[in-house]
Amino acid sequence: MPQTVFILDFGAQYSQLIARRTRELGVYCEIVPYDTPWSALAPQKPAALILSGGPESALAQGAPEMDAAIVQSGVPILGICYGMQLLARDIGAELVRLDQAEYGPATLELSDGDAALFDGVSHESRVWMSHGDSVLSLPDGYRALASTARCRIAALGNEKKKIYAVQFHPEVGHTQFGTAVLDNFLHGIAGIGNDWKMESFLDRTVEDIRAKVGADRVICALSGGVDSAVAATLVARAIGEQLTCVFVDHGLLRAGEAEEVVTAFRDVLHLNVVAVDAREEFLRKLDGVEDPERKRIIIGHEFIALFEREAAKIPGVKFLVQGTLYPDVIESKTPQSKAGHKIKSHHNVGGLPEVMGLSLVEPLRALFKDEVRALGRVLGLPEGIVGRQPFPGPGLAVRIIGAVTPERLDVVRAADKIVREEIDATPLDPRPWQYFAVLTPVKSVGVMGDGRTYANLVAVRAIASEDGMTADWARLPHALLERISSRIVNEVPGVNRVAYDITTKPPATVEWE
Ligand code: XMP
Repeated sequence: MPQTVFILDFGAQYSQLIARRTRELGVYCEIVPYDTPWSALAPQKPAALILSGGPESALAQGAPEMDAAIVQSGVPILGICYGMQLLARDIGAELVRLDQAEYGPATLELSDGDAALFDGVSHESRVWMSHGDSVLSLPDGYRALASTARCRIAALGNEKKKIYAVQFHPEVGHTQFGTAVLDNFLHGIAGIGNDWKMESFLDRTVEDIRAKVGADRVICALSGGVDSAVAATLVARAIGEQLTCVFVDHGLLRAGEAEEVVTAFRDVLHLNVVAVDAREEFLRKLDGVEDPERKRIIIGHEFIALFEREAAKIPGVKFLVQGTLYPDVIESKTPQSKAGHKIKSHHNVGGLPEVMGLSLVEPLRALFKDEVRALGRVLGLPEGIVGRQPFPGPGLAVRIIGAVTPERLDVVRAADKIVREEIDATPLDPRPWQYFAVLTPVKSVGVMGDGRTYANLVAVRAIASEDGMTADWARLPHALLERISSRIVNEVPGVNRVAYDITTKPPATVEWE
């Protein structure tokens, strides 16, 4: 195992971001609940600990606490926001409630130009703040390292104990030298090496898979998406012929995708692929169904039924590969995911039932999405698959509002192809995270040539997002929108109007259904 940093999660929105930044700096880390006892961490020999922010006030009754043994452990610690206040309280610093909370950008001024935490950081820089409490004074051994106009002690440190804390958020992009601060803490202060690399992860995981699977047979459902593609390729690297991939073509993929998946896996990567053409079956089941949730449920059930049928044809299967990612692992452990309202029944190939009596192989459980892509590249997967946008399991069925028919599938597929071609051909910074066409049930009057038309409205959606949980609509250049619109109305029969979706998530969602 590489050296591991543990992030104690006090409920911050940004805990996953701290983890991603840490890994981007070449350091392996895991997020654990804030009340994890030191006795559970110690055997794993943490290289450092990071205390995340959180929504509570450290001064409030019942505020989330950490095990007191953690501060005494001698392991380098970095507290962030709530993590700083809690640390300050535990070391006996004075903490007060601010009259007015400090949210958003602020100018950080260094009070100690030599502090190792701020190596290479300008005397003044922009930081992102979000707090209602503030540290007023420090006990012996601790020094104030920086301030903002509203926050007298915006960073503190004890060089001997290697305990540091910052009131601002170094993990967010709005903090100018945020990465430098994390880099200084992880590499400079905690002395951790750059040992989190996809190549070494790959070697270790291949060994683990071999040890787990032995000589048994394994199956994997390919969806066409990045996660199942990388998981399958990784498992094949470990056990070769023992793996069979099943690709169910439900007929709801984008233009050219089904062929691309089968060609890439069968002909380029030489994996065992069973391709099932279930296009007619899915269309039959979806016939006349308009309700979005019913569509999703029908597709999910049908997919599982077909997959089980195919799996039963392969003798001696003991394991099922799932492309579960680290955010799913964390979310299944958080209380929010249990208390949350169901917005949509998500379906993907990771949702196959455990009642199949198979043991799971989940080789991507420790990875974030961007790491999965990096691993895919190390494994030699074609860029067309590794760089693919996220795509919903129920496919184009949730991008056709109302009933799904072969004709409407043709329309949305053709419009979607144009959206992708035009956006892919345009240099954009940043690139939208996801972009696609939606076929609405609205018809409107138009004029083409000298004739009246009464035809379909297509909506175009392009979003900026980090993870699909929240999203902003992409500010695409007008010239690009113009090309998309004019190509769709000219090239896609039955469409005479194009609208651009300018809604954020929340309150909208990314997909329309
Ligand atoms: P929503 O529409 O929920 O989408 O805002 C958030 C992200 O999830 C994708 N999505 C799905 N992914 N199975 C999946 O694997 C699904 O059923 C599904 N529905 C939505 C969506 O494309 C976006 O990236």
